[in-house]
Amino acid sequence: MNARFPDDSKPVIAILTTSDRERKFCGNRSNFRDIIRTGKELGYLVYVVTVRDLKLESRIVNGYVPAPVGKLWHRIPLPLPQIIYNRIPTREEEEKGPVARKIAQCLEHQDIVLYNPYFFNKWSLFEWLKGSRATSRHVPHTKRLRSSRTLASMLKNHDSLYLKPENGKAGKGIMRLNYRGDAVLPYRLQIQGLKKNLTYKAASLDRLWTRIEKEKGDDLYIVQQAIELATHRGRPFDLRVLLQKNGRGGWGVTGIGARLAGVRSITTHVPRGGSIEEPRNMLEGTFGSEKTAAILRSVPTTALLVARQIERASEYALGEMSMDLGVDKNGGLWFFEANSRPMKFDEPAIRKLSLERIFQYSQHLALQSKLETPSRK
Ligand SMILES: Nc1ncnc2c1ncn2[C@@H]1O[C@H](COP(=O)(O)OP(=O)(O)O)[C@@H](O)[C@H]1O
Ligand SMILES: [Mg+2]
Repeated sequence: MNARFPDDSKPVIAILTTSDRERKFCGNRSNFRDIIRTGKELGYLVYVVTVRDLKLESRIVNGYVPAPVGKLWHRIPLPLPQIIYNRIPTREEEEKGPVARKIAQCLEHQDIVLYNPYFFNKWSLFEWLKGSRATSRHVPHTKRLRSSRTLASMLKNHDSLYLKPENGKAGKGIMRLNYRGDAVLPYRLQIQGLKKNLTYKAASLDRLWTRIEKEKGDDLYIVQQAIELATHRGRPFDLRVLLQKNGRGGWGVTGIGARLAGVRSITTHVPRGGSIEEPRNMLEGTFGSEKTAAILRSVPTTALLVARQIERASEYALGEMSMDLGVDKNGGLWFFEANSRPMKFDEPAIRKLSLERIFQYSQHLALQSKLETPSRK
């Protein structure tokens, strides 16, 4: 067996990213290393390719593979991939002309399958999920934040709101607004900073709006009903679900984790003091073991419904996504967001299966595309 072309029946897979002047290519190198190692173990040729190096008209392209020992990566000629695992790191990169054009060309290419072409936008996700009755019941009341009038109308129904950038991630730019009618300064805005939260209190909606505008700048925001989340030792937590397509091309739940908020944090992100937890431990204190088991059974069902609706409504081929779900005080599940470039899950069992799934699904895609174009080699 040739080391470069391990097995003819297995597709060549490339991890797509953008180039970087200093580091050669962008993205999480240890993640890429894990993917390549897993691929190798399963008999696949897999490498990293930059948008610039992915020359779709040639049969051979320059790709990166890790050196057997140490941290070096080698740039070597490799066969054009059949399957592209998209890890373009940010929305900003994805929207640049050359990157956007390359993604479009991959989507049109006869012999190449690229899935998860684009990042999700928070507002689109909510629109998509409101479009189906089965998923709309898990979606908090959400609007686009355009003026103080939107805030006023949302505050008529909810005393507590989340303000989130449409293209945000990792808690960046998130604010929480609480209204306390009996207080002298009834509007309380918690602004999440990198290290700590700052609270701004205002007497009027106009003042509050001035401050919000200053915080959000030109970024587009959504405003959303705050869900009263179940807590563990007084701190809110949420569930993180990883969904991937399997070797039969169907959606499956790879794993479910929990993230507990840091002290006084308005989100559960690990870099902001949040911690990785076992879902059962988070739920049992509030719900007891029987109800916890029932909630945990409802998570995959709901997450799968949501994933299918997102895929249907987005009209793109998707192979994986992660999802943040909140659990309210009654054990009800709420959708907060889905991510089309899931970050790696550090739970070992989830991590292991997630790496294997990439190859199982790639194999399925390769078989599919051969069936669709039987005359092609
Ligand atoms: N409507 C909400 N009600 C209660 N908590 C929320 C709400 N929206 C977000 N959160 C909390 O904030 C976290 C981050 O929100 P999310 O929409 O996932 O933004 P990001 O893209 O920055 O991760 C969630 O995981 C959840 O803990
Ligand atoms: Mg999130």
